[in-house]
Amino acid sequence: MHGKVLVVGAGTMGHGIAEVCALAGYEVILVDINENMLSNAISRISWSLKKLEEKKKIENAEEVLRRIKTSQNLEEVAGMADFVIEAVVERTDVKHEIFKTLDEECKENCVLSTNTSTIPITDIAKVTKNPDRVVGLHFFNPPTLIRLVEIIKGEKTSEETVKAVKKFAGTIGMDYVMVEKDVPGFLINRINIRVFVEAIRYLEEGYKPEEIDSAVRYRLGLPMGIFEVVDFTGIDTVYNVLKEVRNRGFRVEIPELLEKMIQENSLGMKTGKGFYTYRSFYDRARIPKEYQYRFNPILILSPGVNECAWLIRNEIAVREDIDKATVKGMGYPKGILDYADSYGIDRVVDVLKSRKNKTGLDEYTPDPMLEEMVADGKLGKKNGEGFYRWSYEAVDFGPVRYEKRHNYALITMRRPEKLNALNEDMWIGLNSAFLRAQDDENVRVVIITGEGRAFCAGDDISVMGSWRGLKDGRDFFEKVALPLVNTLSYYEKPVISLVNGNAFGGGMELNLLFDIVIASEKATFAIPEGLIGAIPPIASSLGYMLFGRKIAKYALTGEVIDVGEAKELGLVDVVVPHDILMDVGVEYVDRVSALAPLSARAIKRAMNSVRDLVKSAMEISAREIELLIPTEDFAEGMKAFVSRRRPEWKGR
Ligand code: NAI
Repeated sequence: MHGKVLVVGAGTMGHGIAEVCALAGYEVILVDINENMLSNAISRISWSLKKLEEKKKIENAEEVLRRIKTSQNLEEVAGMADFVIEAVVERTDVKHEIFKTLDEECKENCVLSTNTSTIPITDIAKVTKNPDRVVGLHFFNPPTLIRLVEIIKGEKTSEETVKAVKKFAGTIGMDYVMVEKDVPGFLINRINIRVFVEAIRYLEEGYKPEEIDSAVRYRLGLPMGIFEVVDFTGIDTVYNVLKEVRNRGFRVEIPELLEKMIQENSLGMKTGKGFYTYRSFYDRARIPKEYQYRFNPILILSPGVNECAWLIRNEIAVREDIDKATVKGMGYPKGILDYADSYGIDRVVDVLKSRKNKTGLDEYTPDPMLEEMVADGKLGKKNGEGFYRWSYEAVDFGPVRYEKRHNYALITMRRPEKLNALNEDMWIGLNSAFLRAQDDENVRVVIITGEGRAFCAGDDISVMGSWRGLKDGRDFFEKVALPLVNTLSYYEKPVISLVNGNAFGGGMELNLLFDIVIASEKATFAIPEGLIGAIPPIASSLGYMLFGRKIAKYALTGEVIDVGEAKELGLVDVVVPHDILMDVGVEYVDRVSALAPLSARAIKRAMNSVRDLVKSAMEISAREIELLIPTEDFAEGMKAFVSRRRPEWKGR
């Protein structure tokens, strides 16, 4: 790259920015008033370039290093620059001095950018005669790794300057987001502050850092927890930014806990203690994965989403840039607005309102944009539009609702008054819904759940009781139940079951054919078929293969399996608080759809073929049930069930 870049300030940010520019091929002049800072900067850059050379990422570290010259005299070198990036201490008086000099000494068409985090660009520009060429160019630490910058327009920044700075960002390999107005905290810090402050408030209310960070890491999928990041950045640094943006009009109450930590010198990794304790600087906090469901991450995302709505409504940033910033600048696996659309805008607004009720803080007032979205029914993926438009379709197959929600299908059993029992329509409806999801190539994952307090109470006994003989029963199995069992046995897409309540009999057994079973704490299971003169065909064949002899106790007594036992048995994979069941379901959709679709299909096929090994057992159990239908035991069981009395077995 031709041209000279002048980087003023050789501290944490300045040295990294200089390295990035030199790596891109620019000649760099690095200026600092402090000689030590300059020599430190050069040795840090040199160390980092050597590492890149060792890893074969660059050919010649020396050559890159040679492109960086240092100076302590800004006046002397400013005239040579084609592009300036100022990264000196965060003090308005110092920045003013520097910009005055730059304005006088730099070439006419040279862009003067500042890396300030908290000082308004307009304020910095006001000391220059050409404020149109002053612009914010905000990097993140470390700039060598975080390949995103915020470009911030001051009041007088010209379009030409914006164009030039966008182009420059591209030449140094940085993606950018536009911040159209000079607001405190710009874009990323505004969102980060909301999320972080909220997380601290939950600590004040009794949560542990590990609990919140576990949810952030293992459920949202961020590489580091919120408190880990802040400990790394430095609590004083974050506190100062917070205070600065607050002084400049950002509406936020500073949590007392933060002030207390500053007084106690708990500043994070650098003092060995912050939210966590560290034995050395590179020590990492231990965040147990099993804490992940103790805290719902939507609680801390919601204030962040509210901030995003404010940014969008005030035309400061566009939604695509906000999501890009959260992914590339903050390390989220997907954009924060995408999360909001996944969880549901109504959920976000509910969280904000309940926080406002609890704390009385104005910060939680839902932005009018969010209120309007809810009023207009723009709730996110669940109905086709939120911050973004999503492909959506809803079809009712009898009592079964099929919804395509962008990349997943939600299948809901809807006979709540009958505890979603499997009558003919339910069996057939489920089969049609699963087949529809199978055929839609955009559907990557299927979620199944039940409406009301039950998941599914099993076969509808009134239907079974109406059979007049073997033929009725056999017809029912062959024409109504078996098609679904066959569909699921060879299903090629991952199926996540959200067990919201009772799953008895066939309702329990269907879960043996699903892939990931997530149960509410309220869920219970049972295979009581023997008690009514029948047999649980899938549990006693496939179930025996999956769980071994442990299933016998439940098949031969019909006793209730509580959710803890179900987890121990291996029937349930994850147990979560009832109110977050759907949230966890959509989180799993993200995780499963991260797999290549062909891999997911191949894994499913392989697992289905293992299931095939018990095909003959399943056939035997199906035959057994046909043999039971004409017996007196069966008739007596059905009668007893309907009249709710104990059956009197004749037996043999
Ligand atoms: P720092 O304290 O590490 O470095 C500041 C440097 O400025 C020092 O080397 C100091 O000697 C030099 N300096 C002071 N007065 C000067 C002058 N008159 N002329 C030339 N050099 C002078 O600070 P840091 O963290 O690198 O921050 C620099 C700027 O970057 C600030 O505006 C800060 O808000 C911003 N920033 C910082 C981030 C961070 O994570 N540290 C992230 C993004 C922006």
